[in-house]
Amino acid sequence: MKPIIIAIDGYSSCGKSTLAKALAKKLQYAYMDTGAMYRAVTLYILNNKVSVFDLNDAAINQLIDKINISFKRDENGNSITLLNGEVVEEEIRGKAVSDAVSEVAQIKAIRRRMVDLQQKAGAHKKIVMDGRDIGTKVFPNADFKIFMTADPKIRAQRRYDELKAKGQEVDFEEVFENLKMRDKNDTERKENPLVKAEDAFVLDNSHLNQEEQLQLIVEEIEKRFN
Ligand code: DC
Repeated sequence: MKPIIIAIDGYSSCGKSTLAKALAKKLQYAYMDTGAMYRAVTLYILNNKVSVFDLNDAAINQLIDKINISFKRDENGNSITLLNGEVVEEEIRGKAVSDAVSEVAQIKAIRRRMVDLQQKAGAHKKIVMDGRDIGTKVFPNADFKIFMTADPKIRAQRRYDELKAKGQEVDFEEVFENLKMRDKNDTERKENPLVKAEDAFVLDNSHLNQEEQLQLIVEEIEKRFN
């Protein structure tokens, strides 16, 4: 199969990264979690108490120059995010970052820099990238675009179960409200909002398990690129 770029976009808690990781493993491609990048920037801002909304573009660029985001793999092949060389994978999934990230991700100058890094990472193709604007902005010419969606209540339930399994004290209504707020921020922001690319393959996984989704997408790739 010729080397391709696979762009996966969609709503929060749709299982984008689960599918992206499985697909990357199957094809022996690189995987880039762009949400983790916005989360790592948010963590840096919170840790350093930067009043980011008061900064102009030049100051934001200076700030981003101080931030180095990288990824490594653990023994199970999972992608681990590093912020300036330190593992932050767990911290960036915590409540403080989750509550703040969608606002940080609205800042134009931050997005521009992240998109730049993402485009560089895909320069040689053979990559699966997931996010909100991959098929529309980062790689508008991606070979295969997938737009993932699922019923909001089902997504909230998945997120709730995930947090519970991690031992966090959570309330379903709170998780549901947070998810709706993130959907709203993602779809209504001015800069690169979440929108389905016209040529994207829509995957509604409300009633599909992980294996079924992977199988469906692998079949679609074989149909298109073999
Ligand atoms: O996929 P996630 O929940 O880890 O994403 C975290 C936040 O970053 C979420 O608010 C959406 C935003 N995001 C974005 O704006 N653009 C991307 N390409 C990826 C994520």
